[in-house]
Amino acid sequence: MREDSKEIDAFLVSLLRTVGESLRGDSIKKKSVGTKKNRNDLVTNFDKKTEKFINSEIKKNYPQATIVSEEGYGDKVQDMSGLVFFVDPIDGTMNFVKRRDDFASMIGAYIDGKPLIGAIINVMDNEIYHGGKEIGLFINDKKIDNPKDLSLIEGLVDVSAPMALANKFNVQSVIKKSSGFRVYGSAGIIFGHLLTGKEVMYMSYLAPWDLAAGRVMCEAAGMSIVSIDDSPINMLESQVVIVGTQKVVSEALKTLKTR
Ligand code: IPD
Ligand code: CA
Ligand code: CA
Ligand code: CA
Repeated sequence: MREDSKEIDAFLVSLLRTVGESLRGDSIKKKSVGTKKNRNDLVTNFDKKTEKFINSEIKKNYPQATIVSEEGYGDKVQDMSGLVFFVDPIDGTMNFVKRRDDFASMIGAYIDGKPLIGAIINVMDNEIYHGGKEIGLFINDKKIDNPKDLSLIEGLVDVSAPMALANKFNVQSVIKKSSGFRVYGSAGIIFGHLLTGKEVMYMSYLAPWDLAAGRVMCEAAGMSIVSIDDSPINMLESQVVIVGTQKVVSEALKTLKTR
């Protein structure tokens, strides 16, 4: 098992290194931009191209695996048995289109439903956050320590813009108790901030590919991750999740109005 983790980790790091290099070039090219569910839900030719490339590399190296991915080139995965990869080719597509920074590419690997390895590249910084419970956590080649278990008053929190603006679950009461509020617009970038203690909580409605890699690493780092209604996290559904230090998640759950 340990060998599997190491091998999958090395594979994902090398794959995301290649993906990052091409996305840095793509970021300054003219993009063909379409919308999906609404006018703020964007997809570009580069989201599709990147997903096709990542999925084909996974299938080449792990033909037995199944893939859950955002842009439609994955498998119809019905259950979590065996090796399952979750792929978000560009996380923060709006940032990729508008700002050309603060976007990521993410891959999470699970075995029989258990979190195994997560890998997230902050594309413009060329930093890869990767690892899992068995092998530890790294930024590129450097091992990182778990972040401190800070409380709400001691740290910055990140809530997705629609949830914060609508004051969903009375989330503004949590925001007001923190050191400050930030909205980065890319789950992958925010997971990097959580893993390095720059932020202490993230709350958002997330799809499986938004959550998979970050969940593996945040759990390995001793952080808490819960769904808003306290049901077990379901990796084949979208849900509102709170990820953060143990202290902050328990404070948030006491403050939020979830029913
Ligand atoms: C989105 C970003 C955003 C989060 C959304 C996601 P995408 O991912 O991670 O921060 O709030 O829920 O859908 O669509 O750019 O891959
Ligand atoms: Ca998207
Ligand atoms: Ca995403
Ligand atoms: Ca995406």
